Amino acid sequence: MPTPIILDCDPGHDDVFAIWLAAAHPAIDLRAITAVAGNGHIADTTRNALVACTVAGITDVPVARGAERPLVQELSIADWIHGANALGGPELPEPEIALDDREALALMRDVVAGSTQPVTIVATGPLTNVALFVGRHPDLLPRIARVIWMGGSTGRGNVAAYAEFNAWTDPEAIQIVLDSGVPFTMVGLNIAHQALITADVRSRVAAAGTRMGAFGAALLEYFCAAYEKAEGMAEGPLHDPITVAMIADPAVATIVRTRLDIELTGTETRGATCVDLLGVLGRQANAEVALDLDVDRFWNLIEGAVRALD
Ligand code: BDR
Ligand code: CA
Repeated sequence: MPTPIILDCDPGHDDVFAIWLAAAHPAIDLRAITAVAGNGHIADTTRNALVACTVAGITDVPVARGAERPLVQELSIADWIHGANALGGPELPEPEIALDDREALALMRDVVAGSTQPVTIVATGPLTNVALFVGRHPDLLPRIARVIWMGGSTGRGNVAAYAEFNAWTDPEAIQIVLDSGVPFTMVGLNIAHQALITADVRSRVAAAGTRMGAFGAALLEYFCAAYEKAEGMAEGPLHDPITVAMIADPAVATIVRTRLDIELTGTETRGATCVDLLGVLGRQANAEVALDLDVDRFWNLIEGAVRALD
């Protein structure tokens, strides 16, 4: 039976591919998409989720608008990577599907409460919506199979020396989700930087010959140019769909069960994810952390999604 998921995202170039893979893969039952502020302001990330669905012909998945800012700090968008509208590059079509009239937390509640199977929450942005859901619906937490989140890192950061963007944007939300006891999987920069968008990947996406293929290729071109400028990486990392790929095909990544803590203070390290891979702290393991990506398997999934829809 396909795994029911809610995809909570902040599209964002790589979030779009996460949406497409989630909608296309037969092992996944995409029940809802919820938008959160992160890569862009909430109006932009919500519209971009609708655009991603429009381009791929996804008409049967409700899309709802979520939190407009992190729990504690002000929002600071990632416009140097994703552009001012969070989806720089291609011309954005007018969305052909309507926004759900429920707000994100109400849609999440309805999906989780109405499911006969436990629901997996896949999060590819800051964890604000997920933390708010945890706070508002503690009775529904046993019905969540797990949270699998793109964010954090076992090592370096990308927005600060040791903080990754999604973690840095809302560290308090991560603490709340970890404390909830819901099974948690972190898919961090350490594995995302194995999913490099090579020239071969870009031509495979373009060669799909679909509307998605052309749109996706334009997204990847912009994204790689932004990464080259920002980090000297001409082959940018397609972070977000790794989470979805791990549900579609668990053999795509190795994981380790370990201790994960989030730095909320720190002089230089707020937003750093502290992953005790050596177990030196002697604390109880509280998360799974993804380590190694089967790169060919991953890109085959992405290409398959781009060819399957539209
Ligand atoms: C993460 O931040 C965003 O820029 C991407 O969409 C991804 O979710 C990578 O740090
Ligand atoms: Ca994202």
